Amino acid sequence: MTLTIFGSTGDLSLRKLFPALYNLYSLKKDADFKIIAIGRRNLSHHQFIDMIRPKICEYARLSFDEDIFNEFSEHIVYYQMNLTEADDYVKLNGFYHENQIEAQTFYLALSPRFFHSVIEGFKRLDQIERNNVVIEKPFGINTADMIDINHKLMQLFPKDHVYYIDHYLGKEMIQNIKTIRFKNALFKNSWNHEMIDSIQISALEADGILNRGAYYDASGALKDMVQNHLLQILTILTMEESENQHEAQMQILKKLRINQILLGQYSGYRNEKDVDEHSNTETYAELQCFIDNERWKDVPIYIRTGKKLKKREIVVIVKFKALEGSPSNLLEIKIQPTEGVYLQFNIKKPGAKDQIETVQMDFCQSCVEINRINTPEAYERLFEEVFHHQREYFSSFEQILFSSSLIESIQKPKPFIYDHSIPYSLTEWVEIPHNY
Ligand SMILES: NC(=O)c1ccc[n+]([C@@H]2O[C@H](COP(=O)([O-])OP(=O)(O)OC[C@H]3O[C@@H](n4cnc5c(N)ncnc54)[C@H](OP(=O)(O)O)[C@@H]3O)[C@@H](O)[C@H]2O)c1
Repeated sequence: MTLTIFGSTGDLSLRKLFPALYNLYSLKKDADFKIIAIGRRNLSHHQFIDMIRPKICEYARLSFDEDIFNEFSEHIVYYQMNLTEADDYVKLNGFYHENQIEAQTFYLALSPRFFHSVIEGFKRLDQIERNNVVIEKPFGINTADMIDINHKLMQLFPKDHVYYIDHYLGKEMIQNIKTIRFKNALFKNSWNHEMIDSIQISALEADGILNRGAYYDASGALKDMVQNHLLQILTILTMEESENQHEAQMQILKKLRINQILLGQYSGYRNEKDVDEHSNTETYAELQCFIDNERWKDVPIYIRTGKKLKKREIVVIVKFKALEGSPSNLLEIKIQPTEGVYLQFNIKKPGAKDQIETVQMDFCQSCVEINRINTPEAYERLFEEVFHHQREYFSSFEQILFSSSLIESIQKPKPFIYDHSIPYSLTEWVEIPHNY
């Protein structure tokens, strides 16, 4: 099995892809692979290995073992080329021949501005249609560019050889949403507008844009987070149970109505590197949405995401309708960094005659060490899926296109400025304190 990573010296490769591959190697899962790491810099094999070593130490879920790392590094070949140079693909083809590399997986860990050159370059490789290609979001500079890129890919590869990554689909608790919903009579039968008051989805980050100003300023929170990751969560939370998940998610997207929107920008954003000094790009977005179908009639679904906030967490809170005289039941699904499930319900206050007490069941999955060890990182799952030609954890192009057009159609209000906390809100956000 061969994997060629275009952009192997980039942030994504160093922080996510190589640590995930190291984990797979350590666990002897899919360990029989060769990695052709493509970069533009003139690096020797040892210089490249020295570049990934500290990143694997820092970011791999499994503890660093020098012997395993040394074995792992023998499976890597660093290959220098310029992605915009047509002749370099002819040389790459020669390299593949010399090393008898035939069908393999290409991973484009690159900005979309390189996709056209790389796809053009693929035409210089023999029997390109036998290979797989994995492509990272954003899948184009805008919707029109995505259509163009997808069209060009479809001319070179069979449709089921193209994998569109949304790494949120590989997250443990996002997969768990389906089990919680569909394998508990308690939730399965009450997952509708008669029982549910509202849903809140939050993806908060404490960091700013770090060194990704050029990308982020052209993108913003709506395109960076809402269009892909948060609409994935929303559609998995609200879709019908189905063998065909992509189709079930599409049915939700087609009925999704964005009713209200608030945008914010963190104080100091315009002074960040590679950001326009007059930029109105949003670093915070909050939306109120409705799904105009029978199950979700009039249930508001709130989404919020932002950078430079007080904490880092991804959570979903489902608020059930309150019965007269008693507080609402709450279900919280904790996705990141803590993984777990919290349920708030009412009991009779012990000893008191007619008083109600609210109590909690709080399951922290990631607090248990063995669960942490056994839970693969999202990118590990995604690599495993590609190596085994599975597609469940990937987006469909139809979904990507629909979400992108939906987000592009939003009339954006001017963002307000915020400093760690958000001064306005479309709803009262439920915050559940935990002891871990
Ligand atoms: N970083 C993340 O956490 C993350 C998460 C999800 C999605 N993504 C997406 O993944 C993609 C890659 O992101 P990134 O953060 O890794 O980007 P990045 O840090 O800018 O890395 C880009 C890579 O492309 C290489 N490159 C640039 N120009 C080249 C050329 N002419 N020839 C050969 N190689 C060239 C760079 O080589 P040099 O190192 O020599 O410049 C580097 O390896 C982006 O579309 C991003 O939006 C990133």
